[in-house]
Amino acid sequence: PAPGWATEADVVVVGSGVAGLTVALRCAAAGAKVTVVTKARLDDGSTRWAQGGIAAALGEGDTPGQHLDDTLVAGAGLCDERAVRTLVTEGPGAVRRLIATGARFDADEDTGEILLTREGGHHRSRIAHAGGDATGAEISRALVAAVRAAGIDTVENALVLDLLKDGSGRAAGVTLHVMGEGRRDGVGAVRADAVVLATGGMGQIFSATTNPAVSTGDGVALALRAGAEVSDLEFVQFHPTVLWLGPEAQGQQPLVSEAVRGEGAHLVDADGVRFMRGRHELAELAPRDIVAKAIMRRMRERGAEHMYLDARHFGAPMWERRFPTILAACRAHGIDPVTEPIPVAPAAHYASGGVRTDLRGRTTVPGLYACGEVACTGVHGANRLASNSLLEGLVFAERIAEDITAGPRPAGAAGPGPAPARSAAGRPGAGPGGPPLLASEARYQIQHIMTHGAGVLRSAESLARAADRLDQVQDEAVAELRRDGKTAEPGVGTWEATNLHLVARVLVAAALRREETRGCHWREDRPERDDAAWRRHLLVTLRPDGA
Ligand code: SIN
Repeated sequence: PAPGWATEADVVVVGSGVAGLTVALRCAAAGAKVTVVTKARLDDGSTRWAQGGIAAALGEGDTPGQHLDDTLVAGAGLCDERAVRTLVTEGPGAVRRLIATGARFDADEDTGEILLTREGGHHRSRIAHAGGDATGAEISRALVAAVRAAGIDTVENALVLDLLKDGSGRAAGVTLHVMGEGRRDGVGAVRADAVVLATGGMGQIFSATTNPAVSTGDGVALALRAGAEVSDLEFVQFHPTVLWLGPEAQGQQPLVSEAVRGEGAHLVDADGVRFMRGRHELAELAPRDIVAKAIMRRMRERGAEHMYLDARHFGAPMWERRFPTILAACRAHGIDPVTEPIPVAPAAHYASGGVRTDLRGRTTVPGLYACGEVACTGVHGANRLASNSLLEGLVFAERIAEDITAGPRPAGAAGPGPAPARSAAGRPGAGPGGPPLLASEARYQIQHIMTHGAGVLRSAESLARAADRLDQVQDEAVAELRRDGKTAEPGVGTWEATNLHLVARVLVAAALRREETRGCHWREDRPERDDAAWRRHLLVTLRPDGA
């Protein structure tokens, strides 16, 4: 649709988690005019839900080198070592700057030293946390307060649609659909010299996820339509311990942080057997993919729908002090972790892949940056190490801000003014040949297809079936368009469903291509890791016809 209003900025940041708000603050501090646009409210993204914490070599005896080693092992041979080195060496300083911005981490009352815990895959205690298990909420609070104090322009309830490009193909802003924001209502545009995608993940592609409802892969979908390269989408991380609320549970599910295992909780089956013992030297604290697979295997062997996390031995005072959020979530669902084991099962948690970037956060489209979960910087490889994601958002946000504000402003390109790279919605207002908008309800079809075909366990057969069924979803929308001459009404639900569909298609295609098991990509029909053939990345760009 043609924009009904337009504003201008030097930098437009799309998304308001740790990555987006840090870019915004650093760019604004360097004198840039910044606009932050976000799909719901400023604090509604995934950052707010992060529990365990943020990993950095802050403790005595710990070093960036050890953090690097743990990250590379978890990444199962696919990390970009330069990116990981950047993450772990710049991480401690970035955390200190976050503290200077106002975030308050849990610290020893006497010494003031930051308290550190352990999580899966870490050989050291290096996870800083806040409010016990409310780390993301504290980071979000501090960054939102700083953004407001800095007077940065923000537009809430703004779903990003497409990238604008100038005549030379450089990013020149974004189009948005905004609801209820006064003078900037309806479809509009923010024109800017630099566009930063910080839109978070795509957990809503599956039926059960730890991600909030807003995590619908909008940034990856936009980047694909804009011609940017996307990588590693097949590596979806399933968190091993998500509160199990029944087989029909749908949407965002309560997380039970790895930090609970870091503090000594045990994974047990219905008979109380600790099945992680003997499977890995770190037992319950093995890397996340290994724990998730062990849980799935045990569930299969036992014909069970879930396993249990037993932390009764913590006692009420420790539960209340250290894990108040999780305690409250469990109790709200009728489970008391002080007196009974918690039913848990894996659920979709984190997209290790995303929009390919270099070490300065630059994508393959000039002027377009990606940061945080939407990006694929190379730090996570085939399986992200626990609590490296908030850190990645912080470290690469600082690098992006430096890149944007240090260089000369790009000269205005000759040729026509900004135009959409390719429109989100085939019709109305779409480029020729684009797919039609899908109805909001397609979201549930997509989630069902992905959960059964491309979930924690996959095979060539299940993935091929998923690909066919995703095609059918689109074919039905095309048939309806031909028959009735109309498509779904443009709106947040329909655009989200259309984005989820595009990202799901690419994810399934990548998972089919990768004929091995590696990290969090578990192919039942190819159970071995195959370094000779597959120690490489799958890079995807969309052809002009959308294929
Ligand atoms: C958790 O608290 O278990 C989540 C940490 C993460 O995903 O990095």
